[in-house]
Amino acid sequence: MCAKPQNGQKNNMKSFEEQYNEYAQAFESALKEYCAKMNYRPNVLTESMRYSLLLGGKRVRPVLFLSALDLFGLNWKNELDIAIAIEMIHTYSLIHDDLPAMDNDDFRRGKPSSHKAFGEANAILAGDALLNTAYSILFAASARGEKYLRAARYLCDAAGADGMIAGQSADLLYSGAQDAGAAELEFIYERKTGKLISAPLVMASVLADKYYFEMERFGDALGLLFQMTDDILDEKGDGAAVGKTLGKDKAENKLTSVKVYGLHASELQCDLLAEKCYGILEGFSENAAFFCGFVDFVRKRNK
Ligand code: IPE
Ligand code: IPE
Ligand code: MG
Ligand code: MG
Ligand code: MG
Repeated sequence: MCAKPQNGQKNNMKSFEEQYNEYAQAFESALKEYCAKMNYRPNVLTESMRYSLLLGGKRVRPVLFLSALDLFGLNWKNELDIAIAIEMIHTYSLIHDDLPAMDNDDFRRGKPSSHKAFGEANAILAGDALLNTAYSILFAASARGEKYLRAARYLCDAAGADGMIAGQSADLLYSGAQDAGAAELEFIYERKTGKLISAPLVMASVLADKYYFEMERFGDALGLLFQMTDDILDEKGDGAAVGKTLGKDKAENKLTSVKVYGLHASELQCDLLAEKCYGILEGFSENAAFFCGFVDFVRKRNK
């Protein structure tokens, strides 16, 4: 069972925050270095790609990938390029998600969204460019061996037409729909968010050749928890912390857990999902304390 998360150091163990920051800072440095070398023409393309990548964000997906590699005893510092590809795909999904034709959001990560900073056409192209650059990175990494090819294929599928994009399509289709409920909500959650949360974990499993199904189950549950907390934050979060315009889901009549179950029942479901995550982690013989902390962090997040 997951121990109560520790605050501060104990027995030379790093706290969850310290460990999270270690992965996130290594990722941030690698990303900055990558961005500094980007030199696409016209310059607006490079600038718009850099802008969204370097806006900040929690870096949840790269941290999941790197920490899962670490859990499995692999040298996570050797795989930062793949972490960058993962974050590029996530960032492209956010740029397109914010477009006027989709969620029409003017703020992202506390700053003007890409189409507000560069115009709609440039934002579309920045997203396209990030997706394709991510695949170039993954193709290059595939030269490291067959496992890398399988991990890349997994990410491709998770982001694609039966993954994140299907979830986004359903999210639009069921906005304002009268006859949509829990089943449609689950379809949306599993795909628009769940797939890109579980993919980094499963990719690490593929590279380590361990715990594939456990990681998939853990990632699926964590993904649902992540989107449910996102919906709750949209309803009752602190706008400055979240860095997005709040109340947008209600305004756009989105199919969210708050709409289907109400706020209180959504909170209870989050607790159940967190318990489910902890239960899956019990099946790992490695020390999964960091992942217990991760579940807790997602459950209690304010941004
Ligand atoms: C926002 O993702 C979109 C969802 C899938 C809910 P994050 O909450 O991970 O956004 P950043 O990367 O920290 O900005
Ligand atoms: C978006 O879900 C998920 C993806 C970007 C794929 P939301 O539309 O709820 O995310 P936010 O609230 O804009 O970050
Ligand atoms: Mg959306
Ligand atoms: Mg949105
Ligand atoms: Mg949202």
